[in-house]
Amino acid sequence: MIKKPKKITVAYEGVIQRYRKYLPVSKRTPVISLQEGDTPLIYSVYLSAYLGDNYEVFLKYEGLNPTGSFKDRGMTVAVSKAKEEGSDAVICASTGNTSASASAYAAKGKMRSVVLIPEGAIALGKLAQALIHGAYVLALKGNFDDALNIVKEIAGKYPITLVNSLNPYRIEGQKTASFEICDYLSYAPDFQIMPVGNAGNITAYWKGYKEYKKLGRIKSLPRMLGFQAKGAAPIVRGHPIKNPETIATAIRIGNPASWKQAELARDESRGLIDMVSDKEIIAAYKLLAAKEGIFVEPASASSVAGLLKLNSKGYFKRKRHASPAGRLYSRRKTTIVCILTGHGLKDPDRAIKSIKKPKVLPATLKAVVKEIGY
Ligand code: F0G
Repeated sequence: MIKKPKKITVAYEGVIQRYRKYLPVSKRTPVISLQEGDTPLIYSVYLSAYLGDNYEVFLKYEGLNPTGSFKDRGMTVAVSKAKEEGSDAVICASTGNTSASASAYAAKGKMRSVVLIPEGAIALGKLAQALIHGAYVLALKGNFDDALNIVKEIAGKYPITLVNSLNPYRIEGQKTASFEICDYLSYAPDFQIMPVGNAGNITAYWKGYKEYKKLGRIKSLPRMLGFQAKGAAPIVRGHPIKNPETIATAIRIGNPASWKQAELARDESRGLIDMVSDKEIIAAYKLLAAKEGIFVEPASASSVAGLLKLNSKGYFKRKRHASPAGRLYSRRKTTIVCILTGHGLKDPDRAIKSIKKPKVLPATLKAVVKEIGY
């Protein structure tokens, strides 16, 4: 007989336990958690120096969540609430990370998961995750936007819970990332830069910052700076994109569900939503790996690509003395936080395609020593 372990004390129990009082949960909510959140806010030595003396750049490494992306913060709340409400199945459309997260949390919660993905357009690691966690994975001959329309209809008609970011509990969970940033810094950053795909995450961060300000936990609000990929930039271009294209498959979305909320975050914070090319994304992707030792997936690198683009235009200099709170910056440096949304191991193909392949040598000491230059 297997003995039950004595009650184990764990220091950290995930975002619901840590931020319970700011989330729509009660004692009755069964908490389904993989101990997500509490991700590091890494001071970027390279980027801070690159921008100059008056700046400090931090990287919020969300790739260190249990399934390798920020989606886990929202999924713990969405799946716990689905369970509380008596649901036994979840469904989502996904460019990959949502499906990986939904299937892992459903497995933990002993629920069924169904995921719809665009055929051939999701990174290998994400597909592997959904499959191994036991999701019913269906690849559609269409893009993410087509898949989202279908799951919305299914969830509206049948007893299965939608766990895309249209589910408000997803936004609630994801807002905890802005709480963590403020708790760590003890103030809000001046600028926050992040990728924008279906636009749930920018909506969530902005909600989190506004709530912390209302509670008096922070005095000012950041400007929200969102970046779409050039071939998938409906918000920047002002109209849906029928056939979105980018190597950053996570944000290959032509008609974001939270379009209006993203514009609201942009406008209320006096920020912007701009776009970066695949070339700029790959340059930032390589830079993060080579200079910071941080491996992200391409979509995540668009925040740093955006930082470099804005910096080259002098954006941060111009904005220095005009934060939303109208505060002067004499007492501290301008703080910029870039959100790194997903882990690089999600998309190993892209890494291998971006870098020279390893050289093949005979298995001799002589050949290796000669090759490495000794
Ligand atoms: N970064 C990564 C790694 C993502 O997977 C996503 C979205 C985003 C950024 C954009 O976030 O959609 O809230 O604006 N991935 C979704 C998915 C669409 O299905 O995994 P967003």
